[in-house]
Amino acid sequence: MTARPIVLLLHGPNLNLLGDREPEIYGTTTLRDHVDRVRARCDDAGFDLEDLQSNAEHELVEAVQRARRRVAAIIVNAGALTHYGWSLHDALATYDGIVVEVHLSNPNAREPWRHTSVVAPVARGTIMGFGGDGYDLAVEAVRRLLEAR
Ligand code: DQA
Repeated sequence: MTARPIVLLLHGPNLNLLGDREPEIYGTTTLRDHVDRVRARCDDAGFDLEDLQSNAEHELVEAVQRARRRVAAIIVNAGALTHYGWSLHDALATYDGIVVEVHLSNPNAREPWRHTSVVAPVARGTIMGFGGDGYDLAVEAVRRLLEAR
């Protein structure tokens, strides 16, 4: 049996507080529930899921480095690191698989400092503003891109 492609789901700072943190912006779904949902979608698509949430940029950088030549795709919601995390940007730039950026909210419709993403230039695409459905869309994007390869 050939190994199933691995998808790595990364979450950045403060996303461990989902469900409790500013629910009017981010909803009431917990991180665990989001991850469980992505795991189910990945399973349906024939992928194995690995996931990491960290409030520390270096842990996300190290996870991306470990993913090189091993993980087929990274789905990343980098939290506020999206807007200034240049070492995460550089790590993703060295990564050889598919990168899909996800945001629960639509940062472009919020404060001006959220309008710049340093992840976007090293992502295949960005899905934002659809709440948790964005993760389903990201898995579907990965499925289609891998199928097309
Ligand atoms: C976020 C948007 C970011 O601007 C913010 O810092 C977050 C969450 C989102 O999912 O909407 O932490 O990435």
